[in-house]
Amino acid sequence: MTTLLLVIFAYLIGSFPTGVIIGKVFFNTDIRNHGSKNIGATNAERILGKKAGFAVSIIDILKVFLPVFIYRKLTNDMNTSALIGIAGLLGHCYPIYLKFKGGKGVSSFLGIVFGLNFYVGIITLATWKVLKHITNYVSVSSMISCFISSFIFLYLNGPSVVFFTLFIGSIFIVYLHRTNIKRLLNGTENRVKK
Ligand code: G3P
Repeated sequence: MTTLLLVIFAYLIGSFPTGVIIGKVFFNTDIRNHGSKNIGATNAERILGKKAGFAVSIIDILKVFLPVFIYRKLTNDMNTSALIGIAGLLGHCYPIYLKFKGGKGVSSFLGIVFGLNFYVGIITLATWKVLKHITNYVSVSSMISCFISSFIFLYLNGPSVVFFTLFIGSIFIVYLHRTNIKRLLNGTENRVKK
């Protein structure tokens, strides 16, 4: 019962639509009508600028990181912590406040990883940055770094619930990037501005 309540709570926090709120409140712009139309940090940076994109990414990471981290610290239960993280990720991707039309879950995924293991979080973030620099596509670097992150947990803990949760989470993130994949295949995907 308590776990179910925590999962619902994590979902509701994850649903907080940071990109839409920052865009509307500070820029009078709904980022859902511009760029990739995604509510995440990448599109927020594309449309609202670097500072806004950074703020969206930090808040989107924190809203999932905090429930996972606090629960793990209190209980040492990695499996339930991972499930709480997935609930936050689902909140971001299917937010109750936006008629269930949300983002692609990459910042949320990072929040889960940081909450479970801070060092793996740093490695995942570094991998994402390096791949972004090499490929010039945020979407490609996002999808690959999520898988790499789940395999680091496989290496650390073996075939655990945490690994399978993150692995399935990575597959789900690829699914959420299906429009990016279509654009990659026809050569119209947004490149990183340098
Ligand atoms: O985090 C989402 C990113 O991987 C892609 O964002 O706006 O280019 O679809 P976007």
